[in-house]
Amino acid sequence: MNLLGAQGKLEQPLTRLVIHRPDDWHVHLRDGAMLAGVVNATARQFARAIVMPNLVPPVTKAAAADAYRSRILAAVETGLDFTPLMTCYLTDDSDPEDITYGFKVGIFTAAKLYPAHATTNSSHGVTDFTNLYRVFAAMEKIAMPLLVHGEVTQSHIDIFDREAVFIEQILSQIMRDFPALKIVFEHITTSEAVDFVEASTHPIAATITPHHLEFNRNAMFEGGIRPHFYCLPVAKREVHRLALRRAAISGSPKFFLGTDSAPHTVGAKESACGCAGIYNAPYALESYAKVFEEEGALDRLEGFASQFGPRFYGLPSNQNHIVLEKTAQAIPPHLDIAGNHVVPFHAGQTLNWTFQGQTSH
Ligand code: NCD
Ligand code: ZN
Repeated sequence: MNLLGAQGKLEQPLTRLVIHRPDDWHVHLRDGAMLAGVVNATARQFARAIVMPNLVPPVTKAAAADAYRSRILAAVETGLDFTPLMTCYLTDDSDPEDITYGFKVGIFTAAKLYPAHATTNSSHGVTDFTNLYRVFAAMEKIAMPLLVHGEVTQSHIDIFDREAVFIEQILSQIMRDFPALKIVFEHITTSEAVDFVEASTHPIAATITPHHLEFNRNAMFEGGIRPHFYCLPVAKREVHRLALRRAAISGSPKFFLGTDSAPHTVGAKESACGCAGIYNAPYALESYAKVFEEEGALDRLEGFASQFGPRFYGLPSNQNHIVLEKTAQAIPPHLDIAGNHVVPFHAGQTLNWTFQGQTSH
């Protein structure tokens, strides 16, 4: 990393950060007009992104993923260099042969396990994970990563405990039965998840979102119900947020960037039954930079954002660089996307960093 702008003295605060171009290892790009309205926010900041398959209907087959990838690429602005990495939505009757085929020909990069009804558009998710044992065996053999939405869904389990219970009841068993299966524990939200991933000798890593680093569960109830802070997994207590911050800045290659940017229209969020999801793509790197700066760890941002993800996936890091400058920017209260308002993460706040794009080399 080049720590420019330090006027030759490391004690001086950084004003400019140049790092290898990052990737987003977890994003929802949607489809149709919403896709066209959001994809370039991701494509500007990130070279590649792991694209979630929870469309309606979900992307369960290689052919559907291939077609979705073409729609994504068609919506990317000319001049932006962006590679969508496609995922397969696992269901009770997923076909190991189609998944293997999709991986081998380069359509699928990974497969995503949603426990049924865990989150937005997961009604087709998996009701019993042992139904997938043939699929897991095939994936283990070809070193195809399994991405997990790590929450149990039984209604009698408290929503704030569902991630910790998932570790005990499901994740541990999958890891025991498939010791070489690469697993990414997506959008972790608890100290239990941090400790578990840290201590494990299994090939497992975790993504961390900007919003789970930024606020705890109180944000949803500050002075009234605040739907724009509602996402899944739901934010937890402060002690968990602090554990996530420690993991993100630790320099451990087991923790890397995944925004879980999940846009919904303002009407879908501000409703009697509001959708889960936070749209953080337009200011994602600025948001992460805020956290790393607050933690005095800007020198660790590049590993987290640009190096540890590709290393885990077995892909090369990006060669080119991006620039973040310490220039304040006011985040608008809403963005106009596909004829609707979408409230971005940090709406109404001022962020101290501004993404400047790629350097010429
Ligand atoms: C995601 C969405 O809206 O697709 N929502 C969210 O709160 N993260 C689904 C998901 O990733 O759980
Ligand atoms: Zn997600």
